[in-house]
Amino acid sequence: MAVKSSELYRFIPMRVKDLDMIYELEIKSYDFPWTKEILRDCILYNYDSYSVFFGDEIVGYIISKISYPETHILNLTVSSQFRNNGIGGSLVQLIINDARIRNSQDIILEVRSSNKIAQSLYKKLLFKQIGVRKDYYDCNEGREDAYVLKLEL
Ligand SMILES: CC(C)(COP(=O)(O)OP(=O)(O)OC[C@H]1O[C@@H](n2cnc3c(N)ncnc32)[C@H](O)[C@@H]1OP(=O)(O)O)[C@@H](O)C(=O)NCCC(=O)NCCS
Repeated sequence: MAVKSSELYRFIPMRVKDLDMIYELEIKSYDFPWTKEILRDCILYNYDSYSVFFGDEIVGYIISKISYPETHILNLTVSSQFRNNGIGGSLVQLIINDARIRNSQDIILEVRSSNKIAQSLYKKLLFKQIGVRKDYYDCNEGREDAYVLKLEL
């Protein structure tokens, strides 16, 4: 079920009590998901992260580390039934806003070379490719390159 009205979504900082729902979405979304321990540590160690709720359900999240001079976006995930409603773009925009407030100079992220949808989202938000990390990711056959993207703030 796709829901178009953005007023129905609540964006709130990630909480430990939401970890099970976040992990469930993580394993549904990736062939090589993060472990629950990694996700929990990101929350406990105050990574800059938001969950998106639709009612009581988490339908997306973003995890980043905002620093000076550079911010890193580490994970961006939207539930498949809720994609293409602007949630992913809104999550990245929240981090852009927070990073600007905290005087970060730019935002860096890696994206799989095969992930054209995410690349198109980042391009729309004016990220530029600045490099390639060869064989950065596991994939089902061998390894896959990461494109390194940067947004100057
Ligand atoms: C990538 C992802 C987070 C995008 O989330 P989303 O909520 O669907 O994104 P949005 O609705 O905000 O879309 C923003 C832009 O992304 C691009 N996009 C989104 N879905 C797309 C699709 N199916 N085909 C092509 N471009 C698409 C478009 O540029 C879109 O802008 P537009 O709506 O003006 O055309 C989501 O597809 C996802 O969770 N994928 C699996 C996990 C993943 O790949 N994470 C990113 C790792 S770097």
